[in-house]
Amino acid sequence: MGRVTVPPAGFAVVRFDGIDSTNREVAERARTGAPAGLVVVADHQTAGRGRLGRSWSDEPGSSLLVSILLRPELEASALFVATAVVALALSDACHACAGVRPALKWPNDLLLGDRKVAGVLSEVLWPPVSGGPGPAVVVGTGCNVTGGPPPGTAGTATTLEAASGRRVERDELLDAFLAGLAPRLVQLGSRDGLPAQLGEYRRRCATLGRRVAVEWPDGRKEVGLATGLADDGRLVVTADDGSCRAVAAADVTHLHLLAPPDGRPEEPARPPRRSAGSTPPARPPRRTGGG
Ligand code: BTN
Repeated sequence: MGRVTVPPAGFAVVRFDGIDSTNREVAERARTGAPAGLVVVADHQTAGRGRLGRSWSDEPGSSLLVSILLRPELEASALFVATAVVALALSDACHACAGVRPALKWPNDLLLGDRKVAGVLSEVLWPPVSGGPGPAVVVGTGCNVTGGPPPGTAGTATTLEAASGRRVERDELLDAFLAGLAPRLVQLGSRDGLPAQLGEYRRRCATLGRRVAVEWPDGRKEVGLATGLADDGRLVVTADDGSCRAVAAADVTHLHLLAPPDGRPEEPARPPRRSAGSTPPARPPRRTGGG
């Protein structure tokens, strides 16, 4: 059933030992009138959801698995900012608790080095539910905290402890995350809040300025330079012929330029794709391992 505590900062935290998906639980509670600020945390998920319909798997007790109900008064086109503020707050919390600050990879990944340590999934409730001025948005994040790299991630994921060499308490990470998120949400409600948060995301987004590979949902692949982030959250990618695309739903991989013996940089083959923590197969079904 879950235990309810009301911490400072206006969040009501409900804890589960195990659950299918904290995002699913928050969505269900939103449909029955839960107010903004509801936070659901679990030690383990059996059906964690990832971006682009993937699954998110975790080792029980090793990850921060948390979902938050927001009712931002924002246009649908501005909802990317919900993902952005959670990613910013989580990156700061990692720094406070582990001394390492994950980079932000567009649109929803937190990286330590080249390895994913956390992912964020924002879902807008449809059909809309009443109970607030704006749409109900569930923002969930999974962060790999303890132990070694999640199994089956083929070197694409890491944990906070593995990357920092420091012991990290998940409850401390949650407290630091919520403490950092609260003022960001308050700021979002102010006139300049949206451009301020997007501006900070742009400054801290490791994807901007990088050469990237874009894999579209239909399997097409393109390479280009990530040159901008639109206000609606789409990534602007400029191809070598100068043409631009605004990318919303696609896989984006940071490319590395290697200097071969003749001095001409070339791009390496892509590593096997997995979002963060744990699991494999390319598709279907795709798993974005979280923790
Ligand atoms: C991704 O990188 O694909 C996003 C993963 C988001 C996973 C988190 S874990 C807590 C919350 N509940 C879910 O079912 N998913 C999110």
